[in-house]
Amino acid sequence: MLDRPTPYLLVDPDVLSANVQAMARFARDRGLLLRPHAKTHKTPEIARLQLAAGATGLTVATVSEAEAFAAAGVTDLFLAYPLWVDPARGARLRALTDRVAVQVGIDSVEGARALAAQVPGCSVMVEVDSGQHRSGVQPSEAGVLAECAVRTGLDVHGVFSFPGHSYAPGIAAEVAGQESAALRAAVGSLAEHGIEARVVSGGSTPSASEVDSDVLTEMRPGVYVFNDAQQWELGTAGPEGISLVCVATVVSHSGGKVVLDAGSKALGADRQVWATGYGRLPDHPDARITLQGEHHAVVAWDGSPRPEIGSRVRVVPNHVCIAVNLHDELVTTDGQVWTVTARGANT
Ligand SMILES: Cc1ncc(COP(=O)(O)O)c(C=O)c1O
Repeated sequence: MLDRPTPYLLVDPDVLSANVQAMARFARDRGLLLRPHAKTHKTPEIARLQLAAGATGLTVATVSEAEAFAAAGVTDLFLAYPLWVDPARGARLRALTDRVAVQVGIDSVEGARALAAQVPGCSVMVEVDSGQHRSGVQPSEAGVLAECAVRTGLDVHGVFSFPGHSYAPGIAAEVAGQESAALRAAVGSLAEHGIEARVVSGGSTPSASEVDSDVLTEMRPGVYVFNDAQQWELGTAGPEGISLVCVATVVSHSGGKVVLDAGSKALGADRQVWATGYGRLPDHPDARITLQGEHHAVVAWDGSPRPEIGSRVRVVPNHVCIAVNLHDELVTTDGQVWTVTARGANT
């Protein structure tokens, strides 16, 4: 661990590179395009690794993430989100589409019309709800929306879904099946309206290994580059596949516990109902972060000798995308410092 003030995020570039290569190989072997979600890392150096390994482009969630990655030289970006494009956002999107290939998610007639008014001819992907019940139309309604988009002059590329309900134990295969069925039905719905879905895009990190390459043409996992305590507890990745940790200092032994200087402002506060704590300690797999404040993590210790006050420990955040967005820099075990360029790029 480096001589750097804690808490900070530390990346093992060898594990990171192995994760990037493994997913690229997985997609290539199945004839799928890989468009990783860059909201996980928000970092140009990691985007370049993914593109060099064969990613077709990147997925982003916001116009400002797209601006950050376009400025870093990425030329193909999918905003997988049902944007509301008002004049100000429209001007920014037009500036982007002048420079790089951009596709935008739509899931409503209102959204499609607003986009077409601001960015005539924009490439769009119709979002389908495959069971997460967040955004997206029902698969059978995809064709109506696609036809409406075509009438407003938009260029419909295809359909996409995010199977976020894969974030539960033992459910990945079932959810991948639901996503495949939903996307297949959406492709059929577009065909009934005379529109060909050239791209069929889906996937999350937990469901990636179960992807149906008979239906999907593209996959968009994001978390796989680092993995995190959620993936560890879901069984998607073992501790050896985790490339990012937060380095924290033991500041107290109050009440026999171990208290760290990394709380929700360094690790994030996400905790799924099935998670065993607020993060995991890879060097102490039975210890649990049972309580978190903004600047404290309280660890129920596992019975092994407690680390001394003043010593440093490695913590795996529950949800790495949140943790990364809380830090300005990622430092690597071989001494590089990468700026989290798209940190806070939420608009
Ligand atoms: C639209 C979309 N695509 C892809 C992903 C990446 O999935 P994961 O975070 O499981 O890697 C996300 C994650 O939230 C998403 O919202």
